[in-house]
Amino acid sequence: MQIREVPFIAMGGVYEQDDVEAAQQVIAAVANPEGTFFPLPEENDFQRAFAEHEGAKKAIAVNSCGTALDCCMMALGIEPGDEAITTPLTFVCTAGTAVARGARVVFADIDPVTWCLDPAKVRERITERTRAIIPVHFAGLACDIDGFDRITEETGIPVIYDAAHAVSTKHNGQPIGGRGRASCYSFQSNKNMTTLGEGGAVTTNDEAFAEQVRELKTFGYVYGAAGVRVASIGFNYRMTKPQYAVGLTQLAKVDRVIKDRQDRMARLNELLADVEEIILPVGLGPEHGAHLNVIRVDTDKVSFSAAEFAARLKSEYRAGTAKHYPAVWTWEAFQKLGYNGDGCPIAAKVCDQVISLPVFPRTTEEELQYIAWAVKQTIGELGG
Ligand SMILES: Cc1ncc(COP(=O)(O)O)c(C=O)c1O
Repeated sequence: MQIREVPFIAMGGVYEQDDVEAAQQVIAAVANPEGTFFPLPEENDFQRAFAEHEGAKKAIAVNSCGTALDCCMMALGIEPGDEAITTPLTFVCTAGTAVARGARVVFADIDPVTWCLDPAKVRERITERTRAIIPVHFAGLACDIDGFDRITEETGIPVIYDAAHAVSTKHNGQPIGGRGRASCYSFQSNKNMTTLGEGGAVTTNDEAFAEQVRELKTFGYVYGAAGVRVASIGFNYRMTKPQYAVGLTQLAKVDRVIKDRQDRMARLNELLADVEEIILPVGLGPEHGAHLNVIRVDTDKVSFSAAEFAARLKSEYRAGTAKHYPAVWTWEAFQKLGYNGDGCPIAAKVCDQVISLPVFPRTTEEELQYIAWAVKQTIGELGG
């Protein structure tokens, strides 16, 4: 095959004329003398639509998944002395938001097949100080929500899902946004839908929790007949009016975008099915949020590392990849706090082996064939 460029692009969804027009209309309206960037009615419209899409009673839009997690940690009252159990195979802020409130995160191991946090391993790590469990629907695959429900039923410990990868993800045919105490979504640029580059939301079926998050995202304000009260110490974590408007157009197309991603990921799995040296993602199909196409280099079978594999794929075949993720405990900030991989041998291995291949909603059949060919060539050249 002829060498071609297949970059790992930083735009995860698609951005079309209706998105451009939605943003333009808001901005044009503000040019009128009575215009304002005050975000109603778009904020409420987007929150209602997103809650409905994710099967939750309430959605509270915020300006990132990081701030969504932050609000949830604050709403739970996480404080020094507390522990929060999470997965090591995640973006740093899944763990960082609990640490920022003074808690200690406790890493529990992942399931060797789904690569999501394993409820059985979480049980082993629960202490009298555990105040939250924070699983991730990794790459868009729903984690074992029923297993976490059982833990909450037995112990009362609330579960906050990191659903940054999981817009549209389903579990047994149902959206996941109403499960646990709450779920935190991301609309950052490389996610499957974006609100002009940054954005996020908390979804929940717990109306009191929703109200706490709403207060926290807006200075602690409570609106009443007598005006505004400041009921708690809050922040300003709001999105802007054009972002809410684009959120509505992005949401209207996100299932189509995700179907395009699912089809391409399933096709790439098919093209790579005979490659024994790599481990392919499981659960691809209509329930998968299809955010990342993560494969593992099976280092039990080959003598090269995932990093060497990715470097050669790039240098010889111009195929971009990304790493989702190094184990959280390996980041400098977590090292300084004394974190390590004790008790997480599966995550330690998986984090060393993972590579995300460049599959996006507009990736063509020729590009998929090229990626599969380049993967096979690279493995052959590195020594199989
Ligand atoms: C698993 C996970 N959690 C949280 C985040 C943070 O999202 P945001 O950039 O919207 O704060 C990300 C972003 O990449 C993520 O992948």
